Formats: sequence, structure tokens, C-alpha cells
Amino acid sequence: MPRISLADPSAPITADAVVVAVRTDGGGPRLVAGGEIVDKALNGTLAGALRAAGATGKPDEVLAVPTLGLADFGVVIATGVGADPDAEALRRGIGAALRHVAESPARARSVHVAVDGDVGALAEGAALGAYTFTAYKSEHRPPALRTVTVRAANDGRDALKRAAAISDAIGFVRDLVNTPPNDLYPATFAQRVEERATAAKLRVEVLDEKALRRAGFGGILGVGAGSARPPRLVRITHRPAKPRARVALVGKGITFDSGGLNIKTSNMGWMKSDMGGGAAVVAATVALAALRVPVEVTATVPMAENMPSGSAYRPSDVLDMYGGRRVEVSDTDAEGRLILADGISRAAEDDPDYLIEASTLTGAQTIALGNRVIGAMGEPDWRDRVTAAGNAVGEAVWAMPIPDEVRPALDSPVADIATLTGEKWGGMLVGGAFLRDFVPDGLPWVHLDIAGPAFNNGDPHGYTPKGATGAGVRTIVAAVERLA
Ligand code: BES
Ligand code: MN
Ligand code: ZN
Repeated sequence: MPRISLADPSAPITADAVVVAVRTDGGGPRLVAGGEIVDKALNGTLAGALRAAGATGKPDEVLAVPTLGLADFGVVIATGVGADPDAEALRRGIGAALRHVAESPARARSVHVAVDGDVGALAEGAALGAYTFTAYKSEHRPPALRTVTVRAANDGRDALKRAAAISDAIGFVRDLVNTPPNDLYPATFAQRVEERATAAKLRVEVLDEKALRRAGFGGILGVGAGSARPPRLVRITHRPAKPRARVALVGKGITFDSGGLNIKTSNMGWMKSDMGGGAAVVAATVALAALRVPVEVTATVPMAENMPSGSAYRPSDVLDMYGGRRVEVSDTDAEGRLILADGISRAAEDDPDYLIEASTLTGAQTIALGNRVIGAMGEPDWRDRVTAAGNAVGEAVWAMPIPDEVRPALDSPVADIATLTGEKWGGMLVGGAFLRDFVPDGLPWVHLDIAGPAFNNGDPHGYTPKGATGAGVRTIVAAVERLA
């Protein structure tokens, strides 16, 4: 990722490329404040050049306008931000511009963002847009882009620091999720989390398959039984001196979801993303520690690979869960809720004040809300607070109900509860109802279903690349910050 720093708005621009933002309102391409200095450097020719290039200011429109020797910078990158842009519209616009710069053969080494606005949003957009994943390219040149400067006075420093912590965390999630599942499996996922957490001076605990067996984590062991790669449970803790609250984070860490014996007939191609929730809660914890947020946070991540084999768990198996309850396996492809139930039970033993769980839990989430909106279920007050926190920092989160009729439909004829109902519809809500059974009474909890948002199968847009997105991190960090 490029280094991002603040630049004095009155100083002359020194960069290979300069980003300006363009609005659609007022009947045409209009320069967003902050870009005047660029126009001045070009002797007032910018507006005409933008019109000549066909700029409209629509979101995800990015035009490169060469400066033809008129200025020290070689190119102006004009990015559309729509009408009357808010912080998220700027974040997306700058993201699209930096994505263009990072992909361009022009290989700019430095970029200046000549846009006035929320410094944190501008810096986040720049860092997230500049992200690339090249670890598996045989021929790859290191990224040319080294520095991004954002116009702001020195009072933007805290916002910049926060943006850097958030962007680093999201970059970490994207790297983990993009890493192919033959390299990222429970043991190596655990290792990479341990390395990162240790570097951030966090407490780390890793349970291997023997420790899981001794402690009775039947949900994690059951789901992991079919894989040659044994499961793990990882916990990392940020412990400030005088915490204002204690928060448990839990995330789904399925490193590959084949469906198991109920093998998938669709979507298997992107199931390396099934650990996106686990990666998000780990990264959020690292970011909260970097920002010294005075809230104690423990992330608990059950990790397993869901595979079919002679040792795999079966539909109709009954698993002895951590904490003593028994669950009937309805379908081996509903594996997330099993490892999460164990994770939630363990996390609750620490007696937290709040619980946030994030998981790529159901395809039904994508049917209900699409690929860009996170579904939030749980205790209504905390659910709505987390939803509001996420929406305020630019992640789309929508509160969903857990209707009364769902839990009785999960009754099992042989065990305490089954993983699925016989009902075809509303599968996202069934996931929420199942998980609720493992949350102790009185603990405010929320389940974030990020199945669609965690991974972008479509074209890149704004600051969102193809592949892993880092969904959930900003919402979790913002929700915990609000407790401080
Ligand atoms: N990891 C999937 C959910 C998923 C589906 C995430 C599509 C991203 C995109 C989960 O483990 C799963 O397989 N869910 C099943 C549940 C079904 C068996 C009730 C599903 O959604 O199909
Ligand atoms: Mn599954
Ligand atoms: Zn899954």
C-alpha cells in the first residue's frame, strides 16, 4: 500500500498525477472544491478540458486528462462523485481514481488528491483503491505507486491515522481471503493471524485439533472431520489498561467450503472467501489496538475446511457441542453455524458486555440483500446500534428480523436443535435463529451475514476490487469505537 500523508493546501503540487473530483449537479461536470489549484496550474483550462474529454461526474467515471506540458504533473485524474457527494461518495470516487492509477501502465509513483472533504474518507478511498494482490503472479513488478498526499491542514492527522489503521486492516483481510485455499487452510490461517497479532503485541491463543478434542469443541471438530487439514480455534485479545467495555468478536473461518457430503452444485468457485468473517474480526481487533481504543476486545475464530471424505461428518449426525448441547446436522453445507455455535459459547465464557459475530453464512443473504448490503440480526437495540455505526462509516448494513416461528421449526426429533428447518425461504433468518440459541440470556449480540459483500465476483467499483473486499471491518471498528 502507498504511504499516505497530508499536504499543505497552499503549497505547490509535486506529484506525477493529480486527482480532482467532478460532480454531476448544476448541469454538467463541476469541479469539487479543492481542485481550483489544479485549474490555476493549468491556466484555467481544466473545465474546458473536462468537457472536451466528455466528463459528466457520474460515479465510477474516471478520465485521465494529460496536461501537455502545462504543469509539473503529467496527468489529471478526474473522478466522478455524483451530485452533492457525502463522505462515502468521495471515498468511492477517490478509490476509483487510485484503482485507475494502480492499474495504469503509466505507473505513476506519486499522486496528489486535490479534493476538499472528510480527510479520513479521502485517505481510506485512496488506500483501498490502490490495493492489488500480486502474490501469485509469476511475473510481477512491484507497484510503482509509493506516495499519496491529501490536501488538509495538520488537524487532519487523527483522521489520517484512523484511515491508515482501517485500510491496513482491510488490506490484511483482502490478502487472507484472496490467498488460495491450498495455501490458506486452518493451520496456516492460524499462523498468519498469530504473526500479525504478535507483531501488534496482542495476546494470542491457538488450539490445535488435540486441544479442541480435549476441550470438547464438537461443532468445529465435526465440520473439520472430512478434511486432511485439521481445524483450529484462534483467539486474540486487545487489553487496554482501563477498558470502558468488553466486547467479544466471533468470525467464521471456513478456509474452503465444498459443502462436504452435501457437496455444492453452485458457488464453490469462490468458497475460499468463507473465512472472510473470521479475517474481518481479527483485522478489526488489530485496528482497534493500533488506535488504542479503550475497549477490551477478544476475537474468537473457529477455523475448519469443509470437505467430503470417508471421515467426513454426515447429514443426520449428532454433534456434541462445546458447552454440552447436542445438534443434529441437517445438511453438511450448513457448516458455518456449527463452528460459530462453538465459537460463541467459548467467547461468552469471558463474560463480555457485547458480542458481534460476522460470517459468510447464507446464500439467502445475497438473495435478500444482494452483494453490497450486510444483513444484521440479533438483540434489537444492539443490532440497530451496530447497523447505524456501519452506515455512518460507509458500509451498507440493514437490520433483519428473527421471526418467532423460526426457532420452533429448528426443533430436532432426536437432538436439542437441528441446523435447518424444512422451510425453503428466509434462510438468512434461520441462521440468525440458530445462532441465538448459543448466546447467553442478557448478552446483547448481533450476527452480521456478509456472504455476498465479502467477495466481489463482478467488476471492480469505487474502492472495491475484484475478489476479496474486507467487508465488515469498518462496521465492527466503528461500533466498538462508539463504546469508548
Ligand atoms: N458459505 C455458505 C454461504 C454462502 C453462499 C456464502 C454463497 C457466499 C455465497 C454456507 O456455508 C452455505 O453453504 N450455506 C448454505 C445453507 C443451506 C445448506 C441451507 C446455502 O446458503 O446454500
Ligand atoms: Mn456451506
Ligand atoms: Zn460456508
